[in-house]
Amino acid sequence: MKSVDKKAQTTLAIHPVLKNRWSPRAFNGKLVENDKIDQMFEAARWSPSASNEQPWRFIVGIKGDETYQKIFDTFDEFNQLWTGTAPVLALTIGYTKSLKNPTLPNPTYIYDVGQAIAHLSFQAHADGLHVHQMAGFDATKAEKIFDVPADFKVLTAFAVGYIGDPEILHPNLKKTEYGMRVRRAISETVFTGKFGEALLK
Ligand SMILES: Cc1cc2nc3c(=O)[nH]c(=O)nc-3n(C[C@H](O)[C@H](O)[C@H](O)COP(=O)(O)O)c2cc1C
Repeated sequence: MKSVDKKAQTTLAIHPVLKNRWSPRAFNGKLVENDKIDQMFEAARWSPSASNEQPWRFIVGIKGDETYQKIFDTFDEFNQLWTGTAPVLALTIGYTKSLKNPTLPNPTYIYDVGQAIAHLSFQAHADGLHVHQMAGFDATKAEKIFDVPADFKVLTAFAVGYIGDPEILHPNLKKTEYGMRVRRAISETVFTGKFGEALLK
């Protein structure tokens, strides 16, 4: 297996879990141990949220089971090209309403669910796994298939597993698997005074 260096080329040192996390498309097929699956969802459970409303829910499929196949069937053509080697597929769901007053929307539910996934992916990475999130799927179809209640929305999907050999990928996907990870400069991201004025150079 050719080695890929996907470490973030940071200007300052950051925690190794954050530096080394990335989103592969090639998984090696090894099953994920149940305790590691439990741990990553435990990490998501302890994520912060507005008013501690914890709007996140998850539907998880393990390769070979019916849920896995149903989740896979909602993916677009591009994501179906690579997700089949992932041992775990999951859907991320958010409760759209305020728990205190369900007639009102919860304006931060997507933000909170995203943060839960961030915690999940860092825990997974610390346990030797990789997570690859997806928006390329039919969320409405997923809501129907899994009887998701009306006040909940399927937001994203993700694949989890142990990293695999990029050579197993479809030719169109190999380039990004070997390529370096890039980000916008910090000076264009963190401001002070007014929007656009760099805090950090
Ligand atoms: C909300 C969200 C949706 C994404 N959708 C897809 C997708 O449908 N298919 C895919 O292959 N990657 C998808 N990605 C992965 C991103 O392309 C990837 O995170 C980004 O390029 C940064 O790469 P890195 O995670 O390796 O740092 C998605 C990521 C996020 C957070």
